[in-house]
Amino acid sequence: MPPYLAGRERQQRRFRRILGELADGVPPGSEIVLYGPRGNGKTVLLAWLEQEVAHHSGVEVIRRTPSELMSPRQLAEEILPHAWWQRCTPSEVTALRMTWRPGRDEPPTARAVLTARIRRAPLVLLLDEAHTLDPETGRALLNASQQVGRELPFLLVLAGTPNLRSHLNRMGVSSWNRAELVRVGRLGDEAAADALRVPFQRAGIPVEPNALRAMAEASQGYPFFVQLLGAGVWRHAGSARRVTRAALEHARVGFEERKGEYYLHRYDELDRLELLPVGLAVARAFRARQVLGDRALKQAIRSGLAERASRTAVARAAETLSDLGFIWRTRARPEWEPGIPSLMDYIREFAPAA
Ligand SMILES: Nc1ncnc2c1ncn2[C@@H]1O[C@H](COP(=O)(O)OP(=O)(O)O)[C@@H](O)[C@H]1O
Ligand SMILES: [Mg+2]
Repeated sequence: MPPYLAGRERQQRRFRRILGELADGVPPGSEIVLYGPRGNGKTVLLAWLEQEVAHHSGVEVIRRTPSELMSPRQLAEEILPHAWWQRCTPSEVTALRMTWRPGRDEPPTARAVLTARIRRAPLVLLLDEAHTLDPETGRALLNASQQVGRELPFLLVLAGTPNLRSHLNRMGVSSWNRAELVRVGRLGDEAAADALRVPFQRAGIPVEPNALRAMAEASQGYPFFVQLLGAGVWRHAGSARRVTRAALEHARVGFEERKGEYYLHRYDELDRLELLPVGLAVARAFRARQVLGDRALKQAIRSGLAERASRTAVARAAETLSDLGFIWRTRARPEWEPGIPSLMDYIREFAPAA
């Protein structure tokens, strides 16, 4: 968890309401899918939610990653593990009328397993990195969630990169489309400033307004950069017990270095996929604009691909850039924004043209 979770109040309110309803036995209307480029705080939101469940008595929570759910069988064993059975009284076990136990062959359906567990207590299942979920397990889980979550207090929350949506589509569970989609993107100016200021303030260290403005701007509201910069400033401001422009300038050296490493990773990633010229063309298209329409994006991609690229090739490149978080849709519109604006500068500076 970051020292201060900023700018997610709306999501937090929404989750608190759902948890309150779950505690009262009310089924949620749908699954929740959190998505956004990496480094924007999806894992942190899940961690917050896991903590929050503790304030809602009776509600239980399971938090997993796909590597722990490699098959429907593993899914069943995670939902009804040995420890859970041990907490059941003999009469509860009898009431469940289920003879299966973990470690035995062929578990019952995901629906039966979930139903058994939720009969004892409302449940929240948090699944991070869901864009890597095994398709067969995902299908079983989503189908079960659709059925169970309409009747019983069961909430499934998936978090993943923007390609999570196409990953779910490929699983062939069409009804996941009814899930509530929550974008997790960069922080607004005010939230970025809060994220940087509050930890110092809580430690009794004042932050000079001009230093705060410069810090918020340098972070670009990208939560990963916010923490990187905040930690650096913390090291330099600690002894002075005051955050000044000078402390920021000291911290900036290390910050720029770490950012450079980060950009280089992204550069290599594009290079491995042979997408540097495409990345460059897109970065150039963003030079004077913060938002690109679908057509403008495709034009840029086409100009970065080899001559006469097919529509499929263009669409595939767009999808890959979005999977990488290089670009993404921050609103429910056919428009694109950079995942991190300053990465565009880096690519413009270093990427070779086609
Ligand atoms: N709302 C926020 N306020 C402040 N810092 C945040 C916030 N969300 C995320 N962070 C920080 O940003 C970094 C990336 O967060 P993380 O949850 O790992 O992103 P993701 O799971 O989307 O890749 C972490 O250092 C985290 O502490
Ligand atoms: Mg994460």
